[in-house]
Amino acid sequence: MSDVLDLVDVSVVRDGRALVDGVSWSVKEGERWVILGPNGAGKTTLLNVASSYLYPSSGSATILGERLGSVDVFELRPRIGMAGIAMAEKLPKRQTVLQTVLTAAYGMTATWNEDYDPVDEERARAFLDRLGMNDYLDRRFGTLSEGERKRTLIARAMMTDPELLLLDEPAAGLDLGGREDLVRRLGRLARDPYAPSMIMVTHHVEEIPPGFTHVLMIRQGKLLAAGPVETELNSRNLSRCFGLPLVVERVGDRWTAQGLPLK
Ligand SMILES: Nc1ncnc2c1ncn2[C@@H]1O[C@H](COP(=O)(O)OP(=O)(O)O)[C@@H](O)[C@H]1O
Ligand SMILES: [Mg+2]
Repeated sequence: MSDVLDLVDVSVVRDGRALVDGVSWSVKEGERWVILGPNGAGKTTLLNVASSYLYPSSGSATILGERLGSVDVFELRPRIGMAGIAMAEKLPKRQTVLQTVLTAAYGMTATWNEDYDPVDEERARAFLDRLGMNDYLDRRFGTLSEGERKRTLIARAMMTDPELLLLDEPAAGLDLGGREDLVRRLGRLARDPYAPSMIMVTHHVEEIPPGFTHVLMIRQGKLLAAGPVETELNSRNLSRCFGLPLVVERVGDRWTAQGLPLK
């Protein structure tokens, strides 16, 4: 199987500090990865490298077979779907949900224009339907709740038919119902053999959708663990990652973690 992502000794240095520090990591086709780590660990920075929006200060990054630095990123970027907060802020608030998803087919943050392909509209509707956004097609993007906005962004990221889908804390800020709904939908996507390779960032093991196969843990820019969920997502690794004693448990096809009681 070919590599979707291959990082070799990648560092990202800003103001003399390594936000990502010597990370080597490879993602193969069909794998679904979750990135875990505390606030400020470098998760978003790592995802920005994977999306080709950030060049490593040193090391090499190969995305979908193309090496960053020797590829035209404008050809590479449409092959990558990215749903994160930074994206949401760039999108026009007055556009409807359907328009917000549909415009993804015509460049990053293009505004609405009547000249679209009905086939694209059909696809936009289908992705929104898959994310439970059927009743919101005509709502303005700026009026959506956090959960509705996140689901819209995921549908939007799917619109270009990406080979790699990157999700930065898709469940952050959702209430319990919203989180469970999203985790279920992402789980369904993760198990779809035709879905793109996926990398999702989160702080919480409770948000790992069933069907995610691999985990990467990062702390202070350094890779702590990377490999299959079954072997790497354990109490020892998670405790090192978050810097306190934690017990992680598998409950059915989901995960929970809690701190040990104080003595
Ligand atoms: N452009 C930048 N210049 C300097 N520091 C940055 C920049 N972007 C992020 N940081 C810092 O790098 C660290 C890692 O950030 P980030 O990747 O966003 O962490 P995470 O997503 O894991 O919370 C944080 O300490 C953050 O403040
Ligand atoms: Mg982040």
